[in-house]
Amino acid sequence: MPITLTINGTRTRITAHPMTRLLDVLREDCGLTGTKEGCGEGECGACTVLLDGVPVNSCLVPLAQADGTHVATIEGLRGRHPLQRAFVEHGGAQCGICTPGMIMAAVALGRKPSMDAMRVGLAGNLCRCTGYWAIYRSIRSAAGASKR
Ligand code: FES
Ligand code: FES
Repeated sequence: MPITLTINGTRTRITAHPMTRLLDVLREDCGLTGTKEGCGEGECGACTVLLDGVPVNSCLVPLAQADGTHVATIEGLRGRHPLQRAFVEHGGAQCGICTPGMIMAAVALGRKPSMDAMRVGLAGNLCRCTGYWAIYRSIRSAAGASKR
C-alpha cells in the first residue's frame, strides 16, 4: 500500500516496503541525495532531516513511521538559507559529509540558539573535520549573533 508524505512541501506517494529506511526513500526513490549516509546506525547524524519539524536520523526511520508527516531535507532550503551561506563563509563545511545533517539540525534550533543549545542540539551530529567551533561560528553568524 502506498505511503503518502509531504517532502519539502510536495505531497508524495511512495510505494515501497513499510520498513524501507526513510534515508533510502529520499535518496533512491526521490533523488534527494543531499541527505548523506555516514554510519547507517543512528550514531553520526549525517542523515538528519526534519520530520514534522523535529530532527531525526533518517537511517533509523522506517517509511511507515513517516506516513502523513512533513519531511524537510537540505534541498528544501534551496541553497538560500542564511545557514548555508554562513557555513561556507565561516568554514563550517569542509569535506561536507556532515554538513546537510548539521544544517538541518541547526535549522531546528531556531533563530538565535545559545551556545548550550547548539552544543546539545548538535550533540548527535558528528564532524571529523572542523573541530566544531567553525560550525558554532557559522550558526551564530547566520543568527546575527556576536561572533567568537
Ligand atoms: S547515517 Fe544515520 S546516523 Fe549515521
Ligand atoms: S565537514 Fe567533514 S565531517 Fe564535517
